[in-house]
Parts: sequence; structure tokens; C-alpha cells
Amino acid sequence: MAIGEVRAGSGWLTLREAADAAARAPDLVEEVRPYLRGNGPLRVHDLGCGTGSMARWLAPRLDGPQHWVLLDRDTDLLRVAAANPPEAAADGAPVTIETRRRDITRLSPGELEGAALLTASALLDMMTAEELERLVRTCVAAACPALIALSVTGEVELTPGDPFDGAVADAFNAHQRRTLAGRRLLGPDAVAAAVSGFTRLGADLQVRPSPWHLGPDQAELAGEWFTGWLAAACEQRPELAAAASEYGRWRLSGAAEGRLSVTVHHVDLLARPR
Ligand SMILES: C[S@@+](CC[C@H](N)C(=O)[O-])C[C@H]1O[C@@H](n2cnc3c(N)ncnc32)[C@H](O)[C@@H]1O
Repeated sequence: MAIGEVRAGSGWLTLREAADAAARAPDLVEEVRPYLRGNGPLRVHDLGCGTGSMARWLAPRLDGPQHWVLLDRDTDLLRVAAANPPEAAADGAPVTIETRRRDITRLSPGELEGAALLTASALLDMMTAEELERLVRTCVAAACPALIALSVTGEVELTPGDPFDGAVADAFNAHQRRTLAGRRLLGPDAVAAAVSGFTRLGADLQVRPSPWHLGPDQAELAGEWFTGWLAAACEQRPELAAAASEYGRWRLSGAAEGRLSVTVHHVDLLARPR
């Protein structure tokens, strides 16, 4: 990992996998299905695959033999992905995978040759405007559909509400847009940048909401999410720290006792060549 890159741990990705699966927009799978063709197994490239959760979610929703190419810059996550492939396609056909260590914003033109579908999930907010622009160009040049799930919009709702929630949300979003080792991250602005980039390059774009709804039955994930959300907010605005400690204790006891519900808004994008 290079300096300035945000790292996603495999423990966090595993903890969120079920909530991600429940949140992704299933109707975009129906929208993309008629466009999936090719000779031999369907070739899908997952960009920023992490531990491979997108493949485990999507491969069993598609028919026929598939070959997934899982790309990430993090070798530890690629190792977990390689050890946990999807079981089979919807009709029982085999699904094979391979992993490749790559910077997905600097793929060579031949890297995606033969791809019938590109996917990504929970990726865009970690990018700079230049990296996102390169990624969008790469997707459009591949001339196949791109299904990009779970991009955060910056909106969250906590129930019960508290007057401090808004200040934390603003500070968290500012943290997502921070400059890290000279890289200005897009955070929640990535959605608008991706929409504008795909539209400018002539893609047919569909956008769907894909929120996490974390209720009392997901207390562990809600607690972990909240802890990270508050810590990032306080790192960005240290002046929040004094009020944050009592607020944090109250929220975490609420999560542990099943009194906290959280909605974290995302969107899924489907870009198709016209
Ligand atoms: C939040 S994780 C999501 C992982 C996975 N897609 C999922 O939904 O669980 C973002 C992933 O993107 C990878 N990533 C971010 N920027 C990347 C880049 N420029 N090149 C390759 N991988 C990148 C990270 O290493 C991480 O695994």
C-alpha cells in the first residue's frame, strides 16, 4: 500500500457483507441481464474487489458459466477473495475466479479485453477526481456494461435523533473529502462526478438508491459503523471531541441494547454503452 491510500480491513468488509448484499439494487441486475453476452464463460471484472463480496453476491444471480477476474491493490484482501469464491451460478453452472494485484485507475488498455461486465462496490468515495475520471474512461473504453454499487451519498439518519448528529455528519463528510498525502478524496462527491463522467462520454446511465438499513438485529455492524463515523468526524474537527465522548457512549449503549437504527444512504449506478 502506498502512503495516502485508505485501507479497508478484511474484518470490516466481512462484517458489512450481509448488509451490502441486502442493500444493492436487484433491479439493476435485471436491467443488465439482457446485455450480457460473449463466447464461452461470461467474463466479469470486479474492480476494487476487496474480499470478493460482489462476486459472491452477483455470480449466484446470473445464469451460465462465469469467469471472474478480481482486481485490487491490496494483496491481503486478494488472498481472502481467492479463498472464498462464489459457489455456483443461478443455474448451477461453474464459476471460476482469478485474482490480480492492480491499481484499477491505471489499467492497461488490454487488461479488460473480453470483459462482458465490469463491477465495483463501495469504491468510488476513496478516489480523487483524476482517478475517478481515469476509471470512468476505462469502463467506457471496455464497451460493456459497468455495475457500480454502493457509493455513499453522505446522508445518514440515526433513530432516535440527536441535535449533535448533524455536526458529526458534516465533519465526517469533510473527512471523506480530506486531502491525504496530496490526494484530495472525493468522498460523497464521487457520485456526481461519476454520473457526469459517464454521461459526458455518452453512456446510458441508471441510478438507484441502495441504502443500508441497520436495525436492532445488526447491532454489531451499527456499533462498528458508528464508532468509525464518530472517530473520523473528531479527527477532522477535534473541537467536537469533548461533546463526542458522552454522545458516543449514549449511542453505543443504544446500539448494544437494540435502541439504535441507522440508515446510511448509497446509490448503485449502471452504465451501459449506447
Ligand atoms: C471499501 S472496499 C470495498 C471492497 C469490495 N468491493 C466490497 O464491496 O466489499 C474498497 C476496495 O477498493 C480497493 N481499491 C481502492 N482504490 C483502488 C485502486 N486504485 N486500485 C485497486 N484497488 C483499489 C481497496 O483496496 C478495497 O479493497
